Amino acid sequence: MEPIDVDAARRETPGCDRVVHLNNAGASLMPTAVIDAVVRHIEQEAAMGGYEAADYEASQLTGVYSSAARLLNCHPDEIALFENSTLAWRAAMLSVPFERGDKILTGRNEYSSNVMACQEISRRAGVEVVAIDNDESGQIDVGEVERRLDDRVKLIALTHVPTNCGVVNPIAEVGRIAHEAGVPFLVDACQSVGQMDVDVREIGCDFLAVAGRKFLRAPRGTGLLYVRADRAGGLRPFMPEIGSTGWDAHRAGKLKVGARRFETWEAGWALRLGLGAAIDYAMDVGLDTIWARVSELATYLREQLKQVPGVAVEDAGVVKCAIVTFTVAGIEPKAVKDHLAAAGINVDIAQAARPCRDVASGDCVVRASVHYFNTERELLTLCDSLAELLPTAAVAV
Ligand SMILES: Cc1ncc(COP(=O)(O)O)c(C=O)c1O
Repeated sequence: MEPIDVDAARRETPGCDRVVHLNNAGASLMPTAVIDAVVRHIEQEAAMGGYEAADYEASQLTGVYSSAARLLNCHPDEIALFENSTLAWRAAMLSVPFERGDKILTGRNEYSSNVMACQEISRRAGVEVVAIDNDESGQIDVGEVERRLDDRVKLIALTHVPTNCGVVNPIAEVGRIAHEAGVPFLVDACQSVGQMDVDVREIGCDFLAVAGRKFLRAPRGTGLLYVRADRAGGLRPFMPEIGSTGWDAHRAGKLKVGARRFETWEAGWALRLGLGAAIDYAMDVGLDTIWARVSELATYLREQLKQVPGVAVEDAGVVKCAIVTFTVAGIEPKAVKDHLAAAGINVDIAQAARPCRDVASGDCVVRASVHYFNTERELLTLCDSLAELLPTAAVAV
């Protein structure tokens, strides 16, 4: 495997000149190819009209589905495009015909919006939501998934890479169990796609939700959903609209074949072309190559952070990813983020995973998420800047 040409990647990423961007789990920096694809289409819309520009660029727009299918190893008909990952995930969740007394198996470290959605479905439809514990390493306890399965379970919904603790959950193992039991499996892959190879056939899932703006480096306002072909045909969108049928078939109410029945008709096509360009760009770099680089950088960052007095790395799991979380003794994560922002370093804060080392539930951690265009030098700059906080930390402790 050829190593990444980091200098070239940085030259093709205008933001690298301005900031130390360690918030790739929030929204990454777009490469020039993505920016160009978006701007080109906006200019096209301005010059010829929005509908006319969509017709003019029809083959490029179709190409976005093919790119997404190549990325996830599926068929273009198994892809639906959305404005974000939550809408994609929700479309899948709401298509499952739950009945009173059914169960959803989920995790303890799911994204807050997913948790709220499960609670709402529970309230409205009388569905029981069962949270699977993590094992001692902090990853989902696969044995517990197997033990909790019974004929009331109508869906397993788990996150591949949670937002807040560096862990990569062993979802292919869960996929095997779900498949054997014939239970639909919905994966939130919002934080994993773009930093590692994610293959829906290997995982064996029925649905997989993706965000564009994070490790894929697409524009904000983009996301997608994979729906396995032989599952999609038997499912209806919660609220069908013209996008679910197309204009020709809407009077008859005939749903589109495959995943596209979950889409809405109106969309930001410039952003979607940006998503397509981002996927092509990531695939040109190579997902395995990206994973090797981000794993190396994240490991290096964890080691360096441990050298900074007062800093504790909070990550969990057997396989750890590009998300690195930490706390600084005696200093609120928000104050750490603000201090770093003043030095031109972008990080974010996230709600701590539970159980997390010495961090009470409801507390936050600082999240530094690396991408392949980051450098070791930037990571040392982060650590130096944290070390400046130390006298304050020592007083506060
Ligand atoms: C694990 C995970 N799932 C889902 C989401 C929601 O994604 P979006 O904001 O694109 O709806 C996030 C956002 O940070 C996330 O980290």
